[in-house]
Amino acid sequence: MKLSATNITHAACISRSFLYPDLFGSKTLSLTAEAVTNYSLSIEQGGYPSHDARNVTNLSFCNVSLIYTHPGQHDSINVQVWLPLNGWNQRLQGAGGGGFLAGLNVPSMAGALSDGFAVVSTDAGHKIEDASTWALLSPGNVDLYALQNYASVSLNDAAVIGKSIIQNFYGQGPIRSYWNGCSNGGRQGLVIAQRYPDAYDGILAAAPGIDWNTALLGGMYFPLQVLKGGHVPAPCEIYALSLAAVAACDADDGVVDDIISNPEQCRFDPFALVGQNVTCPGMTATISHAAAQGAAMAWDAVRTANGSLLMPGLNYGALLNVALNSTCDNQGGKCKMVPFPYSEEFIRYWMFKRPDFDWTTLTLTDFYRLWNISANTYSDMIASNNPDLSGFRAAGGKMITWHGLADPAVPTNISSIYYNNVAQLDPGINEYYRLFQAPGISHCGGGNGLYPGHVFETLIAWVEEGKAPEILQGASLPTENGTIYHRPICAYPLMAKYKGKGDVTLADNWKCA
Ligand SMILES: *[C@@H]1O[C@H](CO)[C@@H](O)[C@H](O)[C@H]1NC(C)=O
Ligand SMILES: *[C@@H]1O[C@H](CO)[C@@H](O)[C@H](O)[C@H]1NC(C)=O
Ligand SMILES: *[C@@H]1O[C@H](CO)[C@@H](O)[C@H](O)[C@H]1NC(C)=O
Ligand SMILES: *[C@@H]1O[C@H](CO)[C@@H](O)[C@H](O)[C@H]1NC(C)=O
Ligand SMILES: *[C@@H]1O[C@H](CO)[C@@H](O)[C@H](O)[C@H]1NC(C)=O
Ligand SMILES: *[C@@H]1O[C@H](CO)[C@@H](O)[C@H](O)[C@H]1NC(C)=O
Ligand SMILES: *[C@@H]1O[C@H](CO)[C@@H](O)[C@H](O)[C@H]1NC(C)=O
Ligand SMILES: *[C@@H]1O[C@H](CO)[C@@H](O)[C@H](O)[C@H]1NC(C)=O
Ligand SMILES: *[C@@H]1O[C@H](CO)[C@@H](O)[C@H](O)[C@H]1NC(C)=O
Repeated sequence: MKLSATNITHAACISRSFLYPDLFGSKTLSLTAEAVTNYSLSIEQGGYPSHDARNVTNLSFCNVSLIYTHPGQHDSINVQVWLPLNGWNQRLQGAGGGGFLAGLNVPSMAGALSDGFAVVSTDAGHKIEDASTWALLSPGNVDLYALQNYASVSLNDAAVIGKSIIQNFYGQGPIRSYWNGCSNGGRQGLVIAQRYPDAYDGILAAAPGIDWNTALLGGMYFPLQVLKGGHVPAPCEIYALSLAAVAACDADDGVVDDIISNPEQCRFDPFALVGQNVTCPGMTATISHAAAQGAAMAWDAVRTANGSLLMPGLNYGALLNVALNSTCDNQGGKCKMVPFPYSEEFIRYWMFKRPDFDWTTLTLTDFYRLWNISANTYSDMIASNNPDLSGFRAAGGKMITWHGLADPAVPTNISSIYYNNVAQLDPGINEYYRLFQAPGISHCGGGNGLYPGHVFETLIAWVEEGKAPEILQGASLPTENGTIYHRPICAYPLMAKYKGKGDVTLADNWKCA
């Protein structure tokens, strides 16, 4: 990647340098600009999505902050554009959000800035994640404009605003624009490709929360199944079963490294462990039938009462303690289910629209009814699963999705199902969209597997030099004895396979098969 630098003086970083962006249907309420110098931040793995940990120091940038509204919608949206004062690489990066946040995630903005990008990010109109502050207009009434801003509209707005601010500041627009997001940020990347194909040239849509409105509901299925069974297992039981599956299937790929390379091959029977005593940090437990049953369901799928698939399950290798969490009063005491917090909030605010809703009153019959209501009410707005990417393709865009094979929150198969749906519509998919599944990686990072910390450079090379990626370079975090595993992460549906000889920590000794 050849990047040329553009330097600019401090003095231009004043609000008078900027025109209000020409964004149809919007009205700018305020714009401020302030130079920031000697900016430092310590960023963890994935804090700048799909990048390794790094410490950024001594950054100088112009922090442009803008508030606008869509007149009549009573919204108030904050957008920030960070403009490097030196070393601008002439490119824009849109920084996505996560969970119920649309963006303005400081580590992702600082990381992009440290790579020389001008960065744009939006809060979609709500500054904090807590749904109680933005989901409802009043009990019984969803704020549909707020949801629409979060789902899609604010994303294109931010791209238009970012490009306009860049033009004002540097006297030229960006030569290329990139989106970078994981989880909700991945969903945002997909919705941009589906609805605003001209907004970005390259999109990294990692571990995307596709099918947002049904997938969040789906998170409640496992707790409801457990409640129906009557006995709530302790976290230690679930944790021990998760690890036991890894131990059972680790060697399937020919290498014992605590990583399941291909969860589809894994055969593991949790019921065989019922009655075994297990220890976890700070506690012991006996694996119950209920724990085995819950785990078997979480590894299977969310299904209708008649067994047809509603949503894929979690892979062997994923820690099931997010999907099947509980708290217990003391060691061996009575336990209570703790549903995935985003699922509980989704049902409370967007389904029942009651701040005081108590999820424990739900039954599986309610669940199935809610499934259809959720789909009918919200899918068009936010599911972000439209497989028609013809506009993005025609615009010359390139997109990469990578997804951890041990993701405990967003099932890995959600993105392969989407990818297969796109492929079914357009067999030429590989010319503009590729999927990679990263063994042993949790949601957006973490886990002892192979993390693709250089995927963003790969995306840039695809957009700017036409180098389509066959593999991503994966590297593990150092193990206790300091070993780092290097391994290719193969383009779906291929999987990395050890060639059978040579150092297993070297990528050269692995091939895609
Ligand atoms: C820049 O920031 C670093 C770290 O926060 C600090 O140690 C240093 O004194 C600062 N330098 C200036 C010139 O302010
Ligand atoms: C960042 O700085 C901290 C404190 O100096 C250090 O412990 C850490 O290893 C650094 N991280 C990276 C990725 O360099
Ligand atoms: C920090 O950045 C400023 C502005 O680019 C530069 O003049 C200065 O030398 C840098 N300081 C360090 C310690 O790198
Ligand atoms: C950028 O400006 C906004 C609005 O003034 C402010 O809230 C934010 O803290 C600033 N960010 C930095 C890194 O200075
Ligand atoms: C598990 O622990 C319980 C209570 O400490 C004990 O009674 C039981 O025999 C143990 N079971 C096994 C299979 O070791
Ligand atoms: C499930 O099966 C039952 C009994 O065969 C049938 O009455 C019902 O309509 C089925 N429900 C669905 C959703 O297919
Ligand atoms: C994921 O999809 C693959 C291929 O269709 C299938 O074999 C596997 O069982 C699925 N896994 C889960 C957890 O849904
Ligand atoms: C399980 O629930 C407890 C209590 O709410 C929470 O502190 C913990 O982080 C949750 N664990 C997971 C893995 O989500
Ligand atoms: C509910 O949704 C399921 C799964 O999408 C579908 O098969 C079923 O026909 C729907 N039922 C109604 C009453 O809409």
